[in-house]
Amino acid sequence: MRIFLIGFMGSGKTTLGSKLSKLMGYRFVDTDNYIEEKYNTTISDLFGNKGELEFREIERKAINELIKEEKIIISTGGGTPCFFDNMEKLNNNGITVYLKVDIKTIIQRVAISKKDRPLIAQKSNIELEDYIKDLLNKREKYYSKSNLTVEGISLRAEDLLLAIEGYKMYNN
Ligand code: S3P
Repeated sequence: MRIFLIGFMGSGKTTLGSKLSKLMGYRFVDTDNYIEEKYNTTISDLFGNKGELEFREIERKAINELIKEEKIIISTGGGTPCFFDNMEKLNNNGITVYLKVDIKTIIQRVAISKKDRPLIAQKSNIELEDYIKDLLNKREKYYSKSNLTVEGISLRAEDLLLAIEGYKMYNN
């Protein structure tokens, strides 16, 4: 089984995915970390040196590589499901889980970790709010194609596991 965690920046995909992987004994991979290690760079430098389009190509390649693995939990980047046919690919190759978090929390969380996120690194806090509202609005249609949507804000890995097991039971 493969599990893909989907959601906006700051929705807790990496933290929750890592905890879930320990519960399940699965490998955990964060696509951004995977890309950074593979290309020996940072996401910010990739954006800066190659541009977003090339980053999206690299991201797509990473997904194509990672879906070959079994027993893996993959935390995707906030934009991953919204480019090419990535969302269909994720849905066809595992269980997709959208960690839905309210916009206020997202804004608070990303405001304090802006610098590592090239899409927002240069935005003032006022610009950030409008930018995130608009982007989340556009992305919601991709995220909502996930097999499961869970309220991400204070979700425990144990509860997420139960939700996934329930989904599997009724959809196998
Ligand atoms: C992005 C989200 C980031 C990273 C890149 C672009 C996005 O990942 O992939 O900065 O387009 O929303 P996180 O969602 O893990 O922050």
